[in-house]
Amino acid sequence: MHDSVTIKDSNVLDVEKVRKDFPILSTLVFGHPLVYLDNAATTQKPEAVLNAMDEYYHTINSNVHRGVHHLSQLATDAYELARKKIAEYIGARHAHEIIYTRGTTESINMVAAIFAKRYLKAGDSVLVSGMEHHSNIVPWQMACEERGATVKVIPIDGNGELVLDGLDKLLSEGVKLVSVNYVSNALGTINPVRDIIRAAHRHGIPVLLDAAQAVQHMEVDVQELDVDFLAFSSHKIYGPTGFGVLYGKEKWLNELPPYQGGGEMIKTVTFEKTTYNDLPYKFEAGTPDIAGAIGLGAALDYIQTLGLPAIRQAEHNLMAYALDALHEIEGLRMIGSSVNRAGVLSFLVGDIHPFDLGEILDKQGIAVRTGHHCAQPIMDLYCIPGTVRASLAFYNTPAEIDRLTAGIRKAMKLLK
Ligand code: ALA
Repeated sequence: MHDSVTIKDSNVLDVEKVRKDFPILSTLVFGHPLVYLDNAATTQKPEAVLNAMDEYYHTINSNVHRGVHHLSQLATDAYELARKKIAEYIGARHAHEIIYTRGTTESINMVAAIFAKRYLKAGDSVLVSGMEHHSNIVPWQMACEERGATVKVIPIDGNGELVLDGLDKLLSEGVKLVSVNYVSNALGTINPVRDIIRAAHRHGIPVLLDAAQAVQHMEVDVQELDVDFLAFSSHKIYGPTGFGVLYGKEKWLNELPPYQGGGEMIKTVTFEKTTYNDLPYKFEAGTPDIAGAIGLGAALDYIQTLGLPAIRQAEHNLMAYALDALHEIEGLRMIGSSVNRAGVLSFLVGDIHPFDLGEILDKQGIAVRTGHHCAQPIMDLYCIPGTVRASLAFYNTPAEIDRLTAGIRKAMKLLK
């Protein structure tokens, strides 16, 4: 079946060659070659990332910004070079607009905490969408609860797309910040974030983008988007876990108070008064994840060598192939049918519980995620307990999609 896939000559990614960069992809699971289709949960890591982190610990391990000694300077240089690479990757004007965090969740919690402290008061609201991950709902609920504010929601329709007809009205009702995802982790919908940002800015309201499921699939340029804050995680873009990024426009980062207190985020400390450090360090208390920054920098270098247009094209072709192949399975229902989608295929098969299907696929070496995908409000909207989610990366192949569909058919027979 996979012979029918065509890839535009100008943007060809040699997937078989690229797969060799990822050692884990040639392992066996329950005696079967691994088919890894859980990339929205976390991506696999290429040798280039593993080597960069290994080399850091083997050769220059030292604390950053703290020592005059040789190793500390080498570690600081590598750590700050990563910040420049990240800034370049997302088109930030300044490297100091890149704040290192533990991941998307911490980035959003940081903005929720400091923005609420400075700007939210009783009666205000924060606008999210109906297709957010819990990490873009709960921090706002917590912040709003503390300030007597409320969380408002942009509705979604049956196709899994945002309904923006009432957006202007929503924005005019005391909204102080909009926080939406670029790509839904549960449905794969690519949201029209440019329209949302433009509309919010017409009302003078800043926007935070949760780009955790976007930056690995497409070009994201914060200046072109004119977005105020943007969050993403390293581990979903082929880098290490426990590390992530908050981008903030310089103007906002200067205006907002620090998040945590401690070493590095200060200029001077006395018992009477502390003055805070310059950007980005004002937001980076404590010894950071130095290897994490270096690992993410290496992951972005790796992506650049493949080229985002080639990655996008390969994933686009694979998505089309997978949609066709899944639609041929009788009784399979796609959850979310937006034509603008990236990475994610969420579905149910007949009345098979997603967990049972996931287990049977697992025994065949096929890794998918089952459940609500940390997006319970979406599952409530569709009145379903959860879905089976196959999520794609550029290293997946049509042959792996064939293994998935064969695995689903096998499960259907077993559970008949
Ligand atoms: N947010 C990750 C996912 O969607 C963990 O699976």
